[in-house]
Amino acid sequence: MHSDKFEQLRKKKSDAVLGGGQARMDAQHAKKKLTARERIDYLCDPGSFEELGMLVTHRSSDFGMQDHLHYGDGVVTGYGTINGRLIYVFAQDFTVFGGSLSETHAEKICKIMDLALRNGAPVIGLNDSGGARIQEGVRSLAGYADLFYRNVRASGVIPQISAIMGPCAGGAVYSPAITDFVLMVEHSSYMFVTGPNVVKTVTNQEVSAEELGGAHAHATKSGVAQLTSANDRDCLDQIRQLLAYLPQNCEEKTARLDYTPADERRPALIDMIPASPSQPYDIKGVIDECVDSGSFFEIHEDYAENLVVGFARIAGRSIGIVGNQPTNLAGCLDVNASRKGARFVRFCDCFNIPLLVLEDVPGFLPGTDQEWNGVISNGAKLLFAFSEATVPRITVITRKAYGGAYDVMNSKHIGSDFNFAWPTAEIAVMGARGASEIIFKKEIESAQDPLAAQSEREREYAEKFANPYHAAARGFIDEVIEPADTRIKLIRAFASLENKVDNLPRKKHGNIPL
Ligand code: HXC
Repeated sequence: MHSDKFEQLRKKKSDAVLGGGQARMDAQHAKKKLTARERIDYLCDPGSFEELGMLVTHRSSDFGMQDHLHYGDGVVTGYGTINGRLIYVFAQDFTVFGGSLSETHAEKICKIMDLALRNGAPVIGLNDSGGARIQEGVRSLAGYADLFYRNVRASGVIPQISAIMGPCAGGAVYSPAITDFVLMVEHSSYMFVTGPNVVKTVTNQEVSAEELGGAHAHATKSGVAQLTSANDRDCLDQIRQLLAYLPQNCEEKTARLDYTPADERRPALIDMIPASPSQPYDIKGVIDECVDSGSFFEIHEDYAENLVVGFARIAGRSIGIVGNQPTNLAGCLDVNASRKGARFVRFCDCFNIPLLVLEDVPGFLPGTDQEWNGVISNGAKLLFAFSEATVPRITVITRKAYGGAYDVMNSKHIGSDFNFAWPTAEIAVMGARGASEIIFKKEIESAQDPLAAQSEREREYAEKFANPYHAAARGFIDEVIEPADTRIKLIRAFASLENKVDNLPRKKHGNIPL
């Protein structure tokens, strides 16, 4: 039965042996998909790529496989440079057995991962594969596990980036999932553990591959993909852009571009906060004014939009930014935003990227949905991630800093180096209305005019606490700054923290509430 199937397979493949597969390549061009080698050429600096293992072939002889040898065995591996810096890269070649992973295909990837780790350079995987090479059975599964193991060993030592540029299904998804960034190409890539057919059989639900695991689904619903792109070239451009913010490994400081000091005052920040405390404004406007012009590179843009994260530069030096977004859920923290933020903070901390927090948070999002989905343990992840981070950390409170979220968002108490507040900051246990309703409840109920009593007490509470001066008097805020001077303060503060040394107590590793 099996041998019949593979006889047919072999027939179909007869024109694709050793460098064939032209028909599929043509089809790929029609869909504007690049081939594996075109992808690598586009990704690397021109002429810099050195291929390794070009003559490797699989060792399988089951199902007549010995008659189907393809040089390279479905994956192009090697090293090159991006923006002049060393990188290791593999690109799966869908034209060879659907880019499926054989024992030797896995060995080639492992080889460059080992080299990347030993030489302290990022590793980039361009994934386009039908998964485990079915003809090789457990040898291919073992190959995957060899990859996963190396992904984990390399985690936090060198940046690992995965681009999904075609299928990525079954257990194969776990290698990208372990890496630091997953990029997906819209409409030509998908990732899922079990595909539409299995979903239909088990749950009777009809869903397309795109709906189930396309770029949009993973960028907006699951959060698996941090970046999406319209086509292969955009995706590869994004990788080049991303790498420019990162050091080569955990021992290096972040990359720095030349910077010429200029007038750093930013008057546009003066009117950024609306007159009404409940009116939203776009935190990305604040970010753009604080960082080097045009340097903000957002990550995870379409997921948990109530928290904005991304890389930028301040006076040429890379930083990571975490900002509450008042235009979405009023900037509340919730389950997804906490996970998104925690992961980003931990990445920055792994790779010595200083952190800037822009805070305007009314608290954690209330509701059964949030509680039942673990806002406690997920919120704790963000708290844990900030508390554990030893990189330079600065917070600017632009408006609200309420309740537990005040503590969580890189407060002084959990190790932030500098905490600034704008005069519009409100730092308190909760908003004035809620607070006055609780602490003056009896008085308001027994008043002749309860409404007047309520608003009077609310005003009193707001006057006392809806400002940054109580916190500043305690030293929890280092300075109340004029918004227009924010960039000046940040440039100086980050420069002063350049040689910061902070070590965690000796331990094997912490136990973040996963
Ligand atoms: C061997 C494979 C293959 C595989 C595809 N091919 N997947 N060969 N092992 N896993 C071959 C096909 O036989 C075909 O060869 C060529 O690649 C292109 O495949 P098509 O099916 O013609 O292409 P397309 O229609 O675009 O469909 C792509 C696909 C489909 C959706 C990926 O090929 C598919 O469903 N493949 C099987 C996926 C799968 O179940 N993989 C195992 C998952 S489990 P010819 O000669 O005709 O060109 C897994 C476990 C990992 O991966 C566990 C890790 C822990």
